[in-house]
Amino acid sequence: MKEKINVMITEEEISKRILEVADRINKDYEGRELILICVLKGGVMFMCDLAKRLNLDVRLDFMSVSSYGAETKSSGVVKIIKDLDNSIEGRDVLIVEDIIDSGNTLAYLLDILEKRGPKSIKLCTLLDKPSRREKDVVVDYVCFEIEDKFVLGYGLDYDQRYRNLPYIGVMEFLE
Ligand code: IMP
Ligand code: MG
Repeated sequence: MKEKINVMITEEEISKRILEVADRINKDYEGRELILICVLKGGVMFMCDLAKRLNLDVRLDFMSVSSYGAETKSSGVVKIIKDLDNSIEGRDVLIVEDIIDSGNTLAYLLDILEKRGPKSIKLCTLLDKPSRREKDVVVDYVCFEIEDKFVLGYGLDYDQRYRNLPYIGVMEFLE
């Protein structure tokens, strides 16, 4: 089967929106230190572009998790593949995600991180699919709300491919 990718959100739209969200974060955290936690691998492009727009005292850390069970639907039980390098105790933390779908992964991750005693913990996501939500997670910063379509590009993959696209696309399968 052949695949075609249709553009959903352009590179220009992404960078314009990141600037707006970064402005809000700059105001909300003015004069404070902030640890950005990137959830690998999907969040990496977004975190890099967002971090460059922040004029705060920022530190970057990375975490890699995988969900057990079926591939297409997250079970909510998460295995830590790579943990953070540094402690978040007493720190302001912002989790940077590519997309919140069911919310299961994030709910689990939040649970783990909250036990480590951060001063505050907030969530920032590039994309949000609210219609798919199973867990009630509060997302503090959302760049784009999208309908229930499988998207890829700008960090998001389809079977590990297409992460390098500079835009968000939707896959169309052609006969
Ligand atoms: P959740 O636990 O259902 O919220 O799953 C979130 C994770 O599933 C995201 O961090 C993505 O890695 C992946 N995911 C969910 N929807 C999509 C999509 O449309 N395209 C690519 N990956 C997705
Ligand atoms: Mg992710």
